[in-house]
Amino acid sequence: MKKALLVAALSVCSAFSMANAETYKFGTEATFAPFEFTDDKSNVIGYDADIIRAIGEAESFEVQIVNMPFDALIPSILTKQLDGAIAGITISEERAKQVAFTDPYYKSGISAIIRRADKDKYQKITDLSKSRLCAQIGTTGANAAKEISGNVGTYNTVPEAFMELKAKGCEAVVNDRPVNLYFLATKKDDSYVEIPELVSGENYGIITNKKNTELLQKLNSGLKKIRENGTFQKIHQKWFNVAE
Ligand code: ARG
Repeated sequence: MKKALLVAALSVCSAFSMANAETYKFGTEATFAPFEFTDDKSNVIGYDADIIRAIGEAESFEVQIVNMPFDALIPSILTKQLDGAIAGITISEERAKQVAFTDPYYKSGISAIIRRADKDKYQKITDLSKSRLCAQIGTTGANAAKEISGNVGTYNTVPEAFMELKAKGCEAVVNDRPVNLYFLATKKDDSYVEIPELVSGENYGIITNKKNTELLQKLNSGLKKIRENGTFQKIHQKWFNVAE
């Protein structure tokens, strides 16, 4: 009896604290597996979704994930339609002028995917210096493609860029390497290969409005906690099958 009462009291208590927990809205662009993609019920899943939910749990806030175009994320934070964004976003000086970045949470980089039939033609990134390239709009991959050849077609999503490569609308997709490798590993289509060369190294961070120092502080503190309690390492293992 006493025990039942205690359980009841505890659940009222936790319902109460949940009701009071702050909800933060995070934007993402969920066609970027394994960082963010959707399951058959349109739920956003992936490495980033797990990381932000774990941070929310560690810092006792509710997380709402909103799917939108990648190039809408920063403008939506600036106009306060979003509290933050987690979308495999590369930390850059340019972006740091507009929004605040958390501490880095993932070491990434950029590579190029070509059609398997062109394997001998394009052995190095510089072999693409006169080629038309495809990339996702507003990304560091698109910036890298501009540097490689200057002739770049940009698409709303990475899968669209891959389709364009297959249709011979361009000679390579320039994009984040872990996403390229996941695509090659999971796609039941062996018509693509990677040029085994890293265009550049990058780090991902979560972004917030510069004025929201409270949220930024919670995110950094949550990141630290999940690194310390092993959750971060578990999430890494789950999506990449290797230790960090
Ligand atoms: N890391 C790259 C950038 O920050 C690409 C990120 C694209 N993310 C996405 N969810 N589509 O520009």
